[in-house]
Amino acid sequence: MLNTIAKANANKLYFGSATDNSELSDTAYVAILKNNAEFGQITPANSMKWDATEPSNGVFSFTNGDQIASFAKANGQLLRGHNLAWYQQLPSWVNSVPTAQVGSVLTTHVTTVVKHYAGQVYAWDVVNGMSIYNPHDGSWRSFVFFNALGQNYVSMALTAARAADPAAKLYINDYNIETAGAKATAMLNLVKALQAAKVPIDGIGMESHLIVGEVPAASAFISNFEQFTALGIEVAVTELDIRMTLPATPALLAQQKTDYQNVVAACKAVAKCVGVTIWDYTDKYSWVPSTFSGQGEACPWDANLVRKPAYDGIAAGF
Ligand code: XIL
Repeated sequence: MLNTIAKANANKLYFGSATDNSELSDTAYVAILKNNAEFGQITPANSMKWDATEPSNGVFSFTNGDQIASFAKANGQLLRGHNLAWYQQLPSWVNSVPTAQVGSVLTTHVTTVVKHYAGQVYAWDVVNGMSIYNPHDGSWRSFVFFNALGQNYVSMALTAARAADPAAKLYINDYNIETAGAKATAMLNLVKALQAAKVPIDGIGMESHLIVGEVPAASAFISNFEQFTALGIEVAVTELDIRMTLPATPALLAQQKTDYQNVVAACKAVAKCVGVTIWDYTDKYSWVPSTFSGQGEACPWDANLVRKPAYDGIAAGF
């Protein structure tokens, strides 16, 4: 079972999965998710995001997030908090906040949500995917927080999160930083700048939404992950899925197995890569088909909750 296999490595804390509230009424799905020999960690795919937790200014709603947190606790699973500052799933009211008030809106949100879950969360994705950098070139994204506060919004969010829960690991989580490139370099430079300014930063989340047949050898991930861990921070693979153009074939499923194995083996090889989370464990609930037209079958369990070759690839990778 994957979490058991992961934790047999001295420095791995978990193998985990994303999940969502609507999925928790599916008893067959839950039977697998709650088995902490398989999943030692869960991440709410949606219910701790801004649109869920603060749908209007100053009005907080924790019901769905609490359901995921309680599930983790009941099943002896670590919880990753996801996420606090993101340019997506941001309710429209945030875009209408007068510029002079954006800073207090951001810090109030971070403080309130992190305090609510203090003691329950292993790590928070404080700033999330593409909110800092555009995917390919490392330039800063223009959106409400950056426009009002400049690059300082990252420090403000991290500082508020640390104050609200000193025990939670604070991450920046992003994609297209899994292997070397302009965006990974920009992220490395940001971490160095934050550290120089004594802003708290504990880890970088490597989202890892990857494509079958385009996943490089483990060495490409390892050398990049080590650039980050050399700065004294941890890394985690936070949202792994490896999609293919449908229909699936035996050859694609075999390639997918190899691809999963390479990513997991990279995390295994890097002492400060603490764990791997898949972005839901089954094709039944994957975000991929509705987001990437014509693509799917990205998860290690199929839509009938049957293990695919990718499952064995993960086990072999650890
Ligand atoms: C996705 C969820 O899985 C979907 O249910 C939702 O409709 C959109 O967001 N990167 C992230 C995640 O950091 O929050 C995204 O999750 C997937 C991409």
